[in-house]
Amino acid sequence: MRSLNSILELSVEELDGLIATAKDIIAHPEAYQDKCAHKKLATLFFEPSTRTRLSFEAAMLELGGSVIGFSEASSSSASKGESVADTAKILSCYADIIAMRHPKEGAPFVASLAASIPVINAGDGGHNHPTQTLADLLTISREMGRLDNLTIGLCGDLKYGRTVHSLIEAMSRYSGIRFILISPAELKIPGFIRYNVLERKHIPYTEVSSLDEAMPQLDVLYMTRIQRERFDDPWEYERLKDSYVLDTEKMKLAKERMCVLHPLPRVNEISVKVDDDPRAAYFRQALNGKYMRMALILKLLEEAKQNPAKQPLEVEGLEYDRVCRNPKCITQTEQELPQLFRCTDKAADIHRCIYCEQRA
Ligand code: NCD
Repeated sequence: MRSLNSILELSVEELDGLIATAKDIIAHPEAYQDKCAHKKLATLFFEPSTRTRLSFEAAMLELGGSVIGFSEASSSSASKGESVADTAKILSCYADIIAMRHPKEGAPFVASLAASIPVINAGDGGHNHPTQTLADLLTISREMGRLDNLTIGLCGDLKYGRTVHSLIEAMSRYSGIRFILISPAELKIPGFIRYNVLERKHIPYTEVSSLDEAMPQLDVLYMTRIQRERFDDPWEYERLKDSYVLDTEKMKLAKERMCVLHPLPRVNEISVKVDDDPRAAYFRQALNGKYMRMALILKLLEEAKQNPAKQPLEVEGLEYDRVCRNPKCITQTEQELPQLFRCTDKAADIHRCIYCEQRA
């Protein structure tokens, strides 16, 4: 049995397999309408969501399964102080698979260690969002006809934007990928992406602050919302919130064949006038998310059927003698969790928390 915490847990072959399944679902939806009959998906959403939760629910319903769950922490026992691990154990009694979104980084990972059914990370704080990346990959594949040899611009909040982190992790495994990272200095990508992914794998990337400058080079432009809810200082958000607005003038600088993605929701970073441009793919991207979640649910349930045993945590090489200082890490609120670290760079003596990947 397998859960999905990070997109890196799926090999490139598996990603390509999920894309192929999603395309087959699009071509033959009737062949899939009973595949999950008598199966239940639990959607445990401790943070607001429209697309992710409802596309998970629509995905399960279109597979002939059913859905239980909650859409805000206040209507769950978390508001009484229940731990993530206990909630996951309880839902293992009622459902066959869990999709969990949580404001604390590493919370779905903690749930996956406790649950006896697969747990899918549907977004954890400013850390990861692997199923949004599945939607992004199918979109790029359908819009551009390939997933390799692309120049990808990521624009906006690269620090707190969890979709950006998972997308960089996924795309850096395809050949000929180059990133242009467009953000204000305060919102650059975090270390676990810069050092563990881009630098380690020698992926070409440049960092710029001007969208206009990057625009003519891009095959894919991934716009993001400045993540207000992740800022400690509301004034910093006010100062940065209007950093980028993609409008029809800027679209004139872009290649004729390119696509604009956005995980949505948007605030003001893409003018609604851009929606009519055939290169604006973000609403098609939301639909693709449903198909990829269908493919993922099928895969994880099939794997759980073949091999119901839980994958144990690989403790070899983990270290216990540090403290995670990331206030957004799940270990900050659930203090009985063991603090565990993995050395990610021996020469520089860098250790990262196994839950949130921040440096100790
Ligand atoms: C994203 C998220 O929740 O991280 N939305 C989504 O899942 N489609 C992006 C965002 O909230 O800005």
